[in-house]
Amino acid sequence: MCGIVGYVGPSLDSRPMDVAVGGLRRLQYRGYDSAGVALATPAGLHVVKRAGKLEILEAALFEASPPPATAALGHTRWATHGAPTDANAHPHIGGQGRCAIVHNGIIENHAVLRQELADQGVVFASDTDTEVAAHLLAAALEQTGDLTAAMLRTVARLEGAFTLLAVADDVPSTVVGARRSSPLVVGLGDGENFLGSDVAAFIEHTRQALELGEDQVVTMTPQSVKVVDFAGQEVHPRPFTVDWDANAAVKGGFPTFMNKEIHDQPDAIAKTLLGRVDQAGRLQLDELRIDEAVLRRVDKIVVVACGTAAYAGHVAKYAIEHWCRIPTEVELAHEFRYRDPVVDEKTLVVAISQSGETMDTIMAVRHARDQGAKVIAVVNTMGSTIPREADAALYTHAGPEIAVASTKAFLAQITATYLLGLYLAQLRGTLFADEVRAVLAELEAIPDKVGDVIAGEDRIRHLARSMADIGSVLFLGRHVGYPVALEGALKLKELAYIHAEGFAAGELKHGPIALIEPGRVVFVVVPSPRGRDQLHAKVLSNISEINARGARTVVIAEEGDVEVAGVAGEVVYVPQTPTLLAPLVTTPPLQIFACELATAKGLDVDQPRNLAKSVTVE
Ligand code: F6R
Repeated sequence: MCGIVGYVGPSLDSRPMDVAVGGLRRLQYRGYDSAGVALATPAGLHVVKRAGKLEILEAALFEASPPPATAALGHTRWATHGAPTDANAHPHIGGQGRCAIVHNGIIENHAVLRQELADQGVVFASDTDTEVAAHLLAAALEQTGDLTAAMLRTVARLEGAFTLLAVADDVPSTVVGARRSSPLVVGLGDGENFLGSDVAAFIEHTRQALELGEDQVVTMTPQSVKVVDFAGQEVHPRPFTVDWDANAAVKGGFPTFMNKEIHDQPDAIAKTLLGRVDQAGRLQLDELRIDEAVLRRVDKIVVVACGTAAYAGHVAKYAIEHWCRIPTEVELAHEFRYRDPVVDEKTLVVAISQSGETMDTIMAVRHARDQGAKVIAVVNTMGSTIPREADAALYTHAGPEIAVASTKAFLAQITATYLLGLYLAQLRGTLFADEVRAVLAELEAIPDKVGDVIAGEDRIRHLARSMADIGSVLFLGRHVGYPVALEGALKLKELAYIHAEGFAAGELKHGPIALIEPGRVVFVVVPSPRGRDQLHAKVLSNISEINARGARTVVIAEEGDVEVAGVAGEVVYVPQTPTLLAPLVTTPPLQIFACELATAKGLDVDQPRNLAKSVTVE
């Protein structure tokens, strides 16, 4: 949840602070209730931390004009233990300034350790679980005189999930990091090195990175990076090159990241589709390093994911079952793991995640692999845990998603799962080669269509502003429109703090219709009239039922659907698209609506209250 940055450089100057604060700016989506930096200087450690958003820390740093440094730690917090106050903000200090640490995760045995340390006379300055690690590290430093050895001793005492970064006053050109079940990536610079919760932390400085594994400790100086496991044995992590464009992590003229990322969507889809077809016109998914014989034997697919990513999985289910004739389930990752699911070596588990670090999804992946299932990760963030632990990874190429609520990653996830479905259909022969090519051609046309939808945003924004005082909104959809309705409701809840519910339109008469009353706003995602006849007709009847009770309908419908104009209050038309691919064009109007309504209410759309982008605790 929290964002962590570490830096060590060749000279004594302001660069460590600038890199740390710049990294925090890019990691704010991971937590934003307090922030802090620790600077390592030859004269000792210098810590500045503040409750509130990063701007408050930046103002404090500007006022304090901290000394030049050789290394720095940075932290942006999403509170778990202890309220968001100055004292609870990281870094935490051990040994009266001997060392400083930042932490992401939860130290589960913190209460026992706190008591033990208090009995030894340690006085705590905060309510956090993290501070116990700072004092343990200080004590271990006293005993070993070496920061890496002290970190190894410290992690041996901790239970739970953690990434820890530490600096010590006697080695101002060294940063040590440790990870267990919590993300940490190394950035390799030229005479300088970086650490980050994800590559966004250092992407503007280097694209060369190292993927740290579970239970590893890294020791970084300007010239060296050494990694050992928790037993102290040297290991050699896999290097990789980050293919994100550093400019993708700046607002680029848009007022917010969310606005920018909504506009990035045609590009995110196009990049996710890029380079997937060989010269013979066959779909190739090079990253899918699972034996074809194993994929042919698959008799069940289970998609595991959380939140928006799970809705992408819902869309995938419709497409995969239709194209591949493989029974497909979608399960929230946290429910999957604890219900003793029937999974075996013929089950293919597809784990969808933007961050690649969602703990619930990681645990589902581990559980599935323990049962013998093969796991394919559909992930956006390179170097993250889920693709590393899965049998194969299919990357979405949406670029960094900074706004906390997901937009472009959702459309890229849907696109990637279409590719997976088509690949399996091609492999298992459930679609003819020309059928696969026809769908791929339709997919190629989608970025322009999404561009057209977004070009019509003014109308949706106007509508949203006119509804800034609404109290509760319903979203209805059928077939692939159902997960789109769920996503529309989630976006509105997250961004505008408005009660919203998504329903399968067929469910209306089974209960939700009781909520329909004069003035209620109901969004309806209408299936194409060119698709299954009954679907379109049934949704039109739903709209009439809603109208008859005085509610106000806003429908998302396909261009040329004249019938819908006769029954709906407002119609937002989207380009004609094959039924299964329609979520790619019907979702953006709902994102734009939620974003604009939240803006009209004066809310921060990039960092909605209480949320963190990467949910790294269960
Ligand atoms: C909603 C949203 C969340 C995430 C969910 C999974 O806008 O962003 O619901 O989709 O927390 O996150 P990832 O995809 O990183 O596993």
